[in-house]
Amino acid sequence: MSDKKNQPNSATKPTTNSAWGGRFTEQTDAFVEAFTASVQFDQRMYKQDIAGSRAHAKMLNRISVLSNEDLAAILGGLEAVEQEISEGEFDWSIAREDVHMNIEARLTAMIGDAGKRLHTGRSRNDQVATDIRLYLREQIEFIINEIRRLQHGILDVAERESETIMPGFTHLQVAQPVTFGHHVMAWYEMLKRDASRFSDCQQRMNMSPLGAAALAGTSYPIDREFTATELGFTAATQNSLDSVSDRDFAIEFCADAAILLVHLSRMSEELVIWSSAQFDFIDLPDRFCTGSSIMPQKKNPDVPELVRGKTGRVNGHLVSLLTLMKSQPLAYNKDNQEDKEPLFDTVDTVLGCLRAFADMVPAITCKHDNMYKAAKQGFSTATDLADYLVRKDLPFRDAHEVVGKAVAMGVSTGKDLSELSLTELQQFSNKIEADVFEVLTLEGSVSSRNHVGGTAPDQVRKAIARAQTELAGQL
Ligand code: ARG
Repeated sequence: MSDKKNQPNSATKPTTNSAWGGRFTEQTDAFVEAFTASVQFDQRMYKQDIAGSRAHAKMLNRISVLSNEDLAAILGGLEAVEQEISEGEFDWSIAREDVHMNIEARLTAMIGDAGKRLHTGRSRNDQVATDIRLYLREQIEFIINEIRRLQHGILDVAERESETIMPGFTHLQVAQPVTFGHHVMAWYEMLKRDASRFSDCQQRMNMSPLGAAALAGTSYPIDREFTATELGFTAATQNSLDSVSDRDFAIEFCADAAILLVHLSRMSEELVIWSSAQFDFIDLPDRFCTGSSIMPQKKNPDVPELVRGKTGRVNGHLVSLLTLMKSQPLAYNKDNQEDKEPLFDTVDTVLGCLRAFADMVPAITCKHDNMYKAAKQGFSTATDLADYLVRKDLPFRDAHEVVGKAVAMGVSTGKDLSELSLTELQQFSNKIEADVFEVLTLEGSVSSRNHVGGTAPDQVRKAIARAQTELAGQL
């Protein structure tokens, strides 16, 4: 948080550690206090923490552990605390370690003893597990919305470029002609899987750990279903030890994010290659590029480069969380406080990259002539010639050999297959006739791949229509 008022203040120190002062005879070492604190980063979950407290207090009141007056005071106090925080007026304190204790202390300062009753039957262990789930659940919503926005942008490009011919590559060598619309629809498919992975993760994490307390549950007759429903969870978790120690959902979220970023890095790489002078297939709008302070001619594709680079940190965060959880004995361990920074940075990075891509992709312009010329090079219709011979009853392997010889002649004479004369082509097989030139054109090649998943412009249009129905159903 950049707001100065939201920076924790080490000067506002209570005289003893109010949360556990009874057991201790000396103050926490000043360095240890700062070292063990998490309020600098977990304050971003203040809304979730307050929502959890509201639900918990209401539940305590329902089971007659908290009086009506105390409940009213707590709800009113939480409201006021929330307002202070959102207005940047809250005095975050390192001495109060984390978001949970900061809020509770402020509540108690505001409303007195009722504030001290809020933590009945609850621990920060189930509290933090609840907060993270609530927080991630909401962030996944934002992420999925941004993926959808990017997918819509891709559909715009695909529609515009459904007939645009470019070389398709394998090994980054010209392979067969494809349509640009088909190429970007491949991106659409990758993102479709990403969105569905995030949505699975969201469903699986949507369970309430509240009530697990420190690790074993609580002696109060709590109503866990009530708090679960109150917080929009589908159910309460089933084992208290697992509830406070489980961070699978965080790992899963980071794994989904890592796969998404790997996808974005692949798209980035293509944009970087295509916008180079050597390829010159596309133009990225100036507002997504930067210049050089020394070379006046430069226009650098910074946005895709940076997204490609950010993949490294997101992949790293996944490894951090896996390593954090590896070998941890049940139940809660302080190690778990280390889950937040990688998780939060993953959220921020994913949202930033998606935003950049969703804004940039629809603004890509194609250099049609350059793409077409490039597709003509590299004998991209060689497979079409082989398929033509197969249709004339030559076994595929023999056809492959015939075309290989024709390509060799093309290489030595500097001609494309479509530029060889009929007589020249007939030297390699007497099955070749004048109709061969139809299959040797780029247009003929792409439109012949006319089946579900093929590159023909007709299929691109069908794929776009399917995608539009999918997106309409999901939004
Ligand atoms: N700040 C802690 C965390 O992020 C909250 C839970 C602390 N629990 C404890 N027993 N120290 O994990």
